[in-house]
Amino acid sequence: MQVPLLDLQLQYKKLKPKIIAEIETIADSQHFILGPKVESFERAICEYTGANHAIGVTSGTDALLVILMALGIGPGDAVVTTPYTFFATAGGIARVGAKPIFADIDPVTFNISVESLRATLEKHRDENIKAIMPVHLFGLSAAMDDIHELAAEFGVPVIEDAAQALGAVYLSQQGVKHCGAISEFGYYSFFPSKNLGAFGDAGMVVCRDEAMAVKMRALRNHGMENRYFHKMIGGNFRIDALQAAVLQIKLPHLDEWSGARQRNADFYRSEFAKAGLVGKLTMPAEGPSRDVLKFGHIYNQFVIRAPRRDELCAYLAKNQIGHAIYYPVPLHLQECFAYLGYREGDFPESERAARETIALPIFPELTREQQRYVVETIAAFYR
Ligand SMILES: Cc1ncc(COP(=O)(O)O)c(C=O)c1O
Repeated sequence: MQVPLLDLQLQYKKLKPKIIAEIETIADSQHFILGPKVESFERAICEYTGANHAIGVTSGTDALLVILMALGIGPGDAVVTTPYTFFATAGGIARVGAKPIFADIDPVTFNISVESLRATLEKHRDENIKAIMPVHLFGLSAAMDDIHELAAEFGVPVIEDAAQALGAVYLSQQGVKHCGAISEFGYYSFFPSKNLGAFGDAGMVVCRDEAMAVKMRALRNHGMENRYFHKMIGGNFRIDALQAAVLQIKLPHLDEWSGARQRNADFYRSEFAKAGLVGKLTMPAEGPSRDVLKFGHIYNQFVIRAPRRDELCAYLAKNQIGHAIYYPVPLHLQECFAYLGYREGDFPESERAARETIALPIFPELTREQQRYVVETIAAFYR
């Protein structure tokens, strides 16, 4: 049997007639950049997440750039984040000329550790820290109440990297909130492998403040508010109408798809338990409330810790089971960040996660038969 890490064909087949019709409408209109399709999708994201403002952009990476530019973060400034994330999180900080400062992760959730964040903020008190950027990694919310307390104490805004977490919900002291829309700023990626994936690259900024939203709308379009009058320097970060239209067709299905991922995760847990692998493998952490299907981890990735991880990868490949390592090198040890002066051992939990974790297939259409095969194959490897 073959089990791909992700199969987008199955989702596409179900929505194909609607999507093709929409693409045809846009082709007939020949209106490709921004416009009513984009505005309508931005409103839909505000309604879905509870965010005040949404600004469609070219990718998650560019969403972060736009936020940092709007905040005026640049050379001489620093932003604190986690080293165990996709490159773009810290890449964006460095690209505007600011310094990424890392804090280690919590070994259970893989998200930024509140204790490490506090220690880092204290240690770097003399630096110009301009924001804290937690990442809701793999679709599980970071500890946002604690992070907000620290942000208030140190007087900095919070930017949520919710690239992997559209649809994930956090049970905050103020009630249930959507990841990405809990803080002053947040952003989503619609890279095709995300729970809500575009037909190419696309992303979205969400924010609380209207003046900031106006500024970011201008920044995504070369800093232009009135045509050809530029008060500031922005870029071409405009989302395509085609992407917005495809994403709007998919959005009403997002909770159902995330629910299917959660059920697949539950099935893995019970099958791994039945196979006697619970002591050997470490399953992902649960979200804050598992009573309501929609709450908690939305499993953009199902990431476990596994002994002899690299040998297991080779064994899975031999048995035609898709898998991935997110991420093999934590960001403080990336060659391009050598100038930051970090060394191996600086963030032991991030380094351990990079050595021990592996992502297994979890996409919504995965069958029980395929999941059983994954579990049996892993059980055979450890026998
Ligand atoms: C955690 C995280 N941050 C940022 C990004 C960047 O998003 P994009 O690929 O849309 O530029 C991604 C996407 O892969 C991500 O997973």
